[in-house]
Amino acid sequence: MKMQSNHDSLFIMLATLYSVLVLSSSQDFDFFYLVQEWPGSHCDTEQGCCYPTTGKPASDFGIHGLWPNYNDGSYPSNCNSSNSFDASKISDLISRMQLEWPTLSCPSKDGLKFWGHEWKKHGTCAESILDQHAYFETTLKLKNKINLLHALEGAGIQPNGQMYSLESITSAIQVASGYTPRIQCNNDTSGNSQLHEISLCVDSMASDFIECPVLPNGRSCGSSVEFPSF
Ligand SMILES: *[C@@H]1O[C@H](CO)[C@@H](O)[C@H](O)[C@H]1NC(C)=O
Ligand SMILES: *[C@@H]1O[C@H](CO)[C@@H](O)[C@H](O)[C@H]1NC(C)=O
Repeated sequence: MKMQSNHDSLFIMLATLYSVLVLSSSQDFDFFYLVQEWPGSHCDTEQGCCYPTTGKPASDFGIHGLWPNYNDGSYPSNCNSSNSFDASKISDLISRMQLEWPTLSCPSKDGLKFWGHEWKKHGTCAESILDQHAYFETTLKLKNKINLLHALEGAGIQPNGQMYSLESITSAIQVASGYTPRIQCNNDTSGNSQLHEISLCVDSMASDFIECPVLPNGRSCGSSVEFPSF
């Protein structure tokens, strides 16, 4: 009987060890992109924009999303359709989200559809570490750790409709934050390349910024980029 129970406890110990190792090594994703958008570049396009029903957003970068990503550049999406967006879970965050995570799609909306889309497509893929409230709260917290507009303005890069070198934009963020950003551009109505989105990478616990494991360089940006006013 003594032997038997030793066997049992050894088995339980090994099974526990195995599940701990497997659980901690099998990751749903490798890191996050924190993606922020310049509203002026959303609006200054062929399709234009519509201000949220809550009013014109501040002249500042707004959150697009916090996106789980793999080191190979691909990403998971729509990971759990049962975990649907529930605005009542984030009622304490809504007023901050209206300011810092504004929707600009047409027709004008209050933001819930945009946030619901971000949760469904990206947030559900990180539900192992962030529940719905934590997903939105953490994203707001990360945005506020690094002020992108201050970083650019500190280097003399202002949203005034002028052209700036892509290199100077990248370098301004690098100097201010310590991390290399991913810059994405779109085209204004006259076809000028303009500063649209800036992404920084965040570790897999969503706790702090990291250097990006994978960084497609300046996708769709010209070497010279317009920074439109808003
Ligand atoms: C999906 O979401 C539901 C509802 O929140 C939850 O009960 C379930 O555990 C989730 N599924 C997975 C695989 O995590
Ligand atoms: C911007 O316009 C150029 C051509 O003028 C085109 O090659 C490029 O794909 C456009 N970029 C976007 C993001 O639409």
